[in-house]
Amino acid sequence: MAIEAAADAGGGFGARIIALADRLAQWSEASDGLTCTYLTSTHRAVAAQLQEWMVSAGMATTIDAAGNVVGRWAAADPAARALLLCSHYDTVRNAGKYDGRLGILVALVLVERLRALGVRLPFHLDVVAFSEEEGVRFSASFLGSSALAGRFDPALLERCDADGQTMAGVVRAAGLDPAAISSLARRADTLAGYLEVHIEQGPVLLEEGLPVGVVSAIAGTVRRAITITGMAGHAGTVPMGRRHDAVAAAAELVLYVERRCAQGATLVGTVGRLTVPNGAINIIPGRCDLSLDVRAADDATRDAAMADIEGEIQRIAARRGVAIESQELQRTPAVKCSPRLQSLLAAAVSRQGIVPRYLPSGAGHDAMMFDGLTDVAMLFVRCGNGGVSHSPRETITAEDAEVAVRVLLDAVVMMAEGDATLPGEDGRSPV
Ligand code: HGY
Ligand code: MN
Ligand code: MN
Repeated sequence: MAIEAAADAGGGFGARIIALADRLAQWSEASDGLTCTYLTSTHRAVAAQLQEWMVSAGMATTIDAAGNVVGRWAAADPAARALLLCSHYDTVRNAGKYDGRLGILVALVLVERLRALGVRLPFHLDVVAFSEEEGVRFSASFLGSSALAGRFDPALLERCDADGQTMAGVVRAAGLDPAAISSLARRADTLAGYLEVHIEQGPVLLEEGLPVGVVSAIAGTVRRAITITGMAGHAGTVPMGRRHDAVAAAAELVLYVERRCAQGATLVGTVGRLTVPNGAINIIPGRCDLSLDVRAADDATRDAAMADIEGEIQRIAARRGVAIESQELQRTPAVKCSPRLQSLLAAAVSRQGIVPRYLPSGAGHDAMMFDGLTDVAMLFVRCGNGGVSHSPRETITAEDAEVAVRVLLDAVVMMAEGDATLPGEDGRSPV
């Protein structure tokens, strides 16, 4: 009975989530806008606040060696498996308040509800606020979730940030132990699954008038650092025909990426960073550094585009007499979400009187790290302002956040009651 009561959630969850997100957004590394990057003092303050809220919700909490804030709403049986309810609390620069944080706060409010009703589940609920998903400070995404998923690359500990600080040094400065990160890995036989609530970061739910949707797949990403080395020279004295202009070469490459990545329904390509070291108005750029991010719903489409881009890099280098180095920073395979957990979420969405909408994610998410270790699924929440994200214009409504809590709570209750009638049990993907 108590478990059923949990699903008949009382209201007010949505307003609470908006208020908590506003509270977390008080901390920023930037004087204008929200920026919270890995293990800065801002990031540590947010971690402490999250830990405080988890303790108040009755969870046993810890901040682990990677900076993840982990709260456990324990099952009666200590040997029970754990259902992971996760997302990330770091942000991009000049971010919105909900990317990552919404998923953490929905899970927190869900546990607060279970506590209020005195409901314990047959599995542990582990609410995990991952410390670093965006890859801003060390150009490596998923540092927090990869640690828990047993996929952390220790070589990253030697990677430097823009100030020349190594990841290991930053972890130690935060009072954490870099050597302990690899021991955070969870074993598959201790997990009951992984669920993540996240804003859609796109316009589909908004345009179709839906508060939530079930994620069917998550696009795979390849990220590269590209360095173009030409010949610096006097802007006034070097004839145009004798130049080896690094920025002109970069411009050709950027436009090629745009053209090539327009040739695929789920294919996208972005040059998000482009810098000219020691650039000046009267110097022909001798060097240009740029980032490249290419994604698609399937790896073959993405890799074909990357191969064509690498070929064009060689052609530009030969044509312009510049050297172009391309170093892979990250490769994350595309992920198909668990049909079983997609069905669970869809059943919970239906029970809220909403038609389940399955949709792919163009954005990457921590859930990807757990693919192959346990069943993963995600619930998207409608994004306002045309679906904008990675922008201060990112917005959601309290009503939609409320729906997300109710759906997740209902899904957890159904899992707890072992509802075997769920569709998709035979492993058929519901989409
Ligand atoms: O880049 C992404 O897809 C995610 O927002 N980190
Ligand atoms: Mn993001
Ligand atoms: Mn995110």
